[in-house]
Amino acid sequence: MLDKELLQLAIEAREKSYSPYSGFRVGAALVGKSGKIYLGCNVENAAYTPTNCAERTAIFKAVSEGEREFTAIAIVGGKGDELADLCAPCGVCRQVLAEFCDADFRIILGTPENIRVYTLAELLPLSFGKADLK
Ligand code: THU
Repeated sequence: MLDKELLQLAIEAREKSYSPYSGFRVGAALVGKSGKIYLGCNVENAAYTPTNCAERTAIFKAVSEGEREFTAIAIVGGKGDELADLCAPCGVCRQVLAEFCDADFRIILGTPENIRVYTLAELLPLSFGKADLK
């Protein structure tokens, strides 16, 4: 699937965002090595802390369905109906991605008109992971 098409799926996933407190709506589309695509949106909570980001929704959906290896994720976000030029994953989501994704895992950001691609290693350098616990 093309990066642009994956971003478009993230935009569709964003439609489901439950974000009555921040009004900031995020969507993600995650590609498993099986080829299956998992969509996610942010799900907020009145107690604020239990809020789940779109990226983690997608990855937890995938892992709970048996997929543990991934090649790419597209992420979009913005206030209300506005799509931001760039919505980078938060630190917690980068760490969760690092649990299941290799250094060359692709993170597709931006908009369909201006796509920016990073690797996980670029967005989470010097990370702590399962190898450190050996
Ligand atoms: N959010 C995400 O879904 N992903 C991120 O990586 C950044 C933040 C959500 C969480 C919260 O619902 C809203 O955006 C504002 O922080």
